Amino acid sequence: IDYGTPRSKSEKMIELTIDGQTIAVPEGTSIMRAAMEMGTQIPKLCATDMLDAYGSCRLCLVEIEGRPGTPASCTTPVMPGMVVKTQTQRLQQLRKGVMELYISDHPLDCLTCSANGDCELQDMAGAVGLRDVRYGYDGENHVFPKQDGVANENWLAKDESNPYFTYDPSKCIVCMRCVRACEDVQGTFALTISGRGFESRVSAGMNESFLGSECVSCGACVQACPTATLNEKKVIEVGAPEHSVVTTCAYCGVGCAFKAE
Ligand code: FES
Repeated sequence: IDYGTPRSKSEKMIELTIDGQTIAVPEGTSIMRAAMEMGTQIPKLCATDMLDAYGSCRLCLVEIEGRPGTPASCTTPVMPGMVVKTQTQRLQQLRKGVMELYISDHPLDCLTCSANGDCELQDMAGAVGLRDVRYGYDGENHVFPKQDGVANENWLAKDESNPYFTYDPSKCIVCMRCVRACEDVQGTFALTISGRGFESRVSAGMNESFLGSECVSCGACVQACPTATLNEKKVIEVGAPEHSVVTTCAYCGVGCAFKAE
């Protein structure tokens, strides 16, 4: 199970009610994690227990008695006596609306996509009960952002320069999980988000390919990606490596030869 946010180390326990059930969790725990620990799955895309909560996808909305609005459960910590609802009709409608918007900017090629059956976007569309999308994907007629006054038709081009993984910007939902994994897990700061609104995409440096960037091919971003945007290349596709390196880290191609004591 991915509990959505990291475990709190506090020894102080907080009691609250979620969907009519009382639970006690360590202070600093997010509502999402508290709900997950009692077996209630809250839909999520940008949250993962590998990384600190970020609150960008707005899928994990909940209602809290006495509070206006619908805060994100991944970024809202539990408070004593809190009464939370995670499954009201209003929340279901809101989540469905959010998912519709994601799908409207995503290629509908699930059947031939390499992540079919292992894609969190696909899972969440099912979890919120999305069956129809009112705003169809219009990938072929994308308005390409301009670069030096000229439409950049390579904007959604796949980057296959890295020997270990591919990057397909057309499948990016801008959840920032890869950028955060690069910073928090690897400490490399190779990735960022470029552009705004519909033009926002993950970028490895300024107009650079992944291979030409600061990326060290550690694979933390590939592991964190919830869709097929960052996808591991299979040995069957690229052939066996010409040389190998000694490393204790899964994925890593850096070969720092770190030895555990
Ligand atoms: Fe909470 Fe994305 S999972 S905002």
